[in-house]
Amino acid sequence: MKAIRLHNYGLSEELKYENAPVPEISDEQILVKVMATSVNPLDMKKASGIVKDKTPLHFPWIPGHDFSGIIENAGKNVSNFKVGDEVYGNCNGGSYAEFLALDTFAVDIKPEALTFEEAASVPHVGETAWQAIHTHGKLTKDQKVLIHGAAGAVGAYAVQFASMIGATIYTTAASTEKEFLLSLGAEKVIDYQTEDFTQLVNDLDLVLVLVGGDIQKRSYTVLKEGGRLVSTTGPIMEEEARQKNITAISMIIHQSGDDLRKISKLINEHQLKTDVALVYNLEHAADGWRILSGEDPSLPKISHGKIVLKISPDNYDSVEEKKNQNPSNV
Ligand SMILES: NC(=O)c1ccc[n+]([C@@H]2O[C@H](COP(=O)([O-])OP(=O)(O)OC[C@H]3O[C@@H](n4cnc5c(N)ncnc54)[C@H](OP(=O)(O)O)[C@@H]3O)[C@@H](O)[C@H]2O)c1
Repeated sequence: MKAIRLHNYGLSEELKYENAPVPEISDEQILVKVMATSVNPLDMKKASGIVKDKTPLHFPWIPGHDFSGIIENAGKNVSNFKVGDEVYGNCNGGSYAEFLALDTFAVDIKPEALTFEEAASVPHVGETAWQAIHTHGKLTKDQKVLIHGAAGAVGAYAVQFASMIGATIYTTAASTEKEFLLSLGAEKVIDYQTEDFTQLVNDLDLVLVLVGGDIQKRSYTVLKEGGRLVSTTGPIMEEEARQKNITAISMIIHQSGDDLRKISKLINEHQLKTDVALVYNLEHAADGWRILSGEDPSLPKISHGKIVLKISPDNYDSVEEKKNQNPSNV
């Protein structure tokens, strides 16, 4: 099969579009013919080596945490899905490839309302936002929340989940994102480039920190005593949290079929908007990484939404056809 693989730590320059073996499945696993995947900062962090102490990579490594596709084969102990099901989910790497083997606990049937490309844009950031707002943030209707980086891929779902709860939503984003965020349910959009959020909001119940830098430190000043702070971007400043009795959590996404099913239901009921900014063929994954990192100004800049990688329909031979074409190198 074709896949994007890395043979060393690095960024876009290390992405190689090449032949790789089709993964084998255990009796508990499914083999998914991947139709689309998406670009997430997590793949880039893992690839760069900055988290290699906690998450070492085994090379050659195939990136990719999101996938949508069709079940090609199922192990004999798989009872909740069958061959031919259209599925999507968040996996632990490996979806920048024509085929992906995985357990089924974090998989769901693809929402009918979505194309494969739209579906591949959802699980990783959607589940992160769900867990930030509900599981860790414990946001309720009468509360006020500030979401930093609200126009980002995680942030846009977090705004929508907070809006469904009925909370009052303040956000920080570039000024160009104002209309977009108001349309998702934000009450106020603070321009992070020209305005100081610490002067504009206070007495908050919850702050979501979806960007790095000094944002977390400054956010303690706008939280009320006993409030909550959830960060997706790094460790908690324990001393600042203790001083105001803040419950502060540095969250790591938990791959969850239960959360994904709740998200699927909202999508099927047309209550949740997905957002695909750009679609590239898998072989051009490096361009997607360059756009997200901003390293190449000649590439288009996306304001919001996900970069999706689709696997060309021309490549959609069955596994058996692939093996017959080149038994030693599929
Ligand atoms: N812990 C976990 O399990 C987990 C899971 C998923 C994601 N994450 C992390 O969460 C972060 C957000 O992910 P994402 O996919 O949403 O990233 P993203 O799509 O790149 O969004 C980041 C957003 O933050 C904005 N931004 C940059 N600096 C800002 C500032 N000072 N104030 C306010 N907004 C600012 C960016 O705007 P511009 O376009 O203007 O720069 C962009 O809209 C990433 O660091 C990612 O690695 C962690």
